[in-house]
Amino acid sequence: MITVALPKGRTLGATLDRFARAGLVPEEDFSTTRKLIVPARGTQARFVLLKDPDVPLYVERGAADLGVCGLDHVLESGADLLVPVDLGFGACRLSLAAPRSSGLLQAWRDGESGAEVGRSLRVATKYPRLTARAFARRGVPVDIVRLSGSVELAAVANLADAIVDLVETGRTLEQNGLAVVEDLLQVTARLVVNRASYRLKLEELLPVLERMGAPA
Ligand code: PRP
Repeated sequence: MITVALPKGRTLGATLDRFARAGLVPEEDFSTTRKLIVPARGTQARFVLLKDPDVPLYVERGAADLGVCGLDHVLESGADLLVPVDLGFGACRLSLAAPRSSGLLQAWRDGESGAEVGRSLRVATKYPRLTARAFARRGVPVDIVRLSGSVELAAVANLADAIVDLVETGRTLEQNGLAVVEDLLQVTARLVVNRASYRLKLEELLPVLERMGAPA
């Protein structure tokens, strides 16, 4: 029996397509069922449906043998995982963004952020670890405000000076008067595998990993 962790966000469709190519298809449609565990048709595998940021934890702890999630969640989680395949879809960037009118944009580019506001920059994000790392690399003090969604609002509603969040089309930034200051990470969906499962269930996992990674 292998357990596959699916991310329920934007990449669910592409993820299911890729598993279908590897011969794993859920017995029930996740868009209509409320079940969170669904067997894969005609196999010894089953799917579990998770919030994207929870995929690394389930796989690291062995509650799932493998899963799919963005590189953003892999790195933010700090989980100890095998990450053997870049699946290529779900491309977006993790970016630092600020109001278009903000002097922070220019100050950051000039390497002066912080001095601009006379205190640490207040940055709202769902990615505290990656944000702290990016600012530490720059040597800029930061006060991180952790949010769980609608992050762009924080920079518009004066909760924060700037945000660190995913940018895909750029429409959310655009429509809220924000602009990218700097891209911090290029993100795509990754296949992640539990280290022990890779050793103990190699026979079951290998055909799936090979077919998942194969070009379309
Ligand atoms: C994601 C991300 C941005 C938006 C970017 O949010 O956090 O807000 O998509 O996409 P765009 O560049 O194509 O506009 P999501 O829709 O997942 O919702 P959330 O903010 O509640 O997490």
